[in-house]
Amino acid sequence: MFTRQKLTSAMKILVVATVVLSIIYTPDKDMKEKAFVILQQKCNVCHRKQNPRMVFTTENMARHARKIKFQVFTLKRMPKGDEITLNETERKILKTWIDERQ
Ligand code: HEC
Repeated sequence: MFTRQKLTSAMKILVVATVVLSIIYTPDKDMKEKAFVILQQKCNVCHRKQNPRMVFTTENMARHARKIKFQVFTLKRMPKGDEITLNETERKILKTWIDERQ
């Protein structure tokens, strides 16, 4: 039989587990959302017209993460041209999202 005390302990464990899990999983999700905003504003604006085969969505961005890293941080080819640039904060967010998910 469950005593009231045992039930209370079980509830406490459940609450703690929920909090811990949300702390573990929330930052990555936030980072993904932030990264997506950057991809929308600084990449898709152009890709939609000039590279329509690679328009980033929340579904495909993870799949393209390695390519994004290569083009933005290794080759420094993207964002293409001089008109659109990434500021320090945007670079940091993109980098953090890429590194966290690999
Ligand atoms: C002003 C236009 C423009 C902007 C802005 C731009 N791109 Fe591109 N991107 C292109 C074009 C055009 C291509 C296809 C031709 C090429 O690779 O140069 C391309 C290709 C790519 C590729 C594929 C390259 C390959 O061959 O594997 C990746 C990855 C990429 N872009 C990422 C990005 C990311 C990430 C951003 C934003 C941070 C971005 N691009 C911003 C125009 C742009």
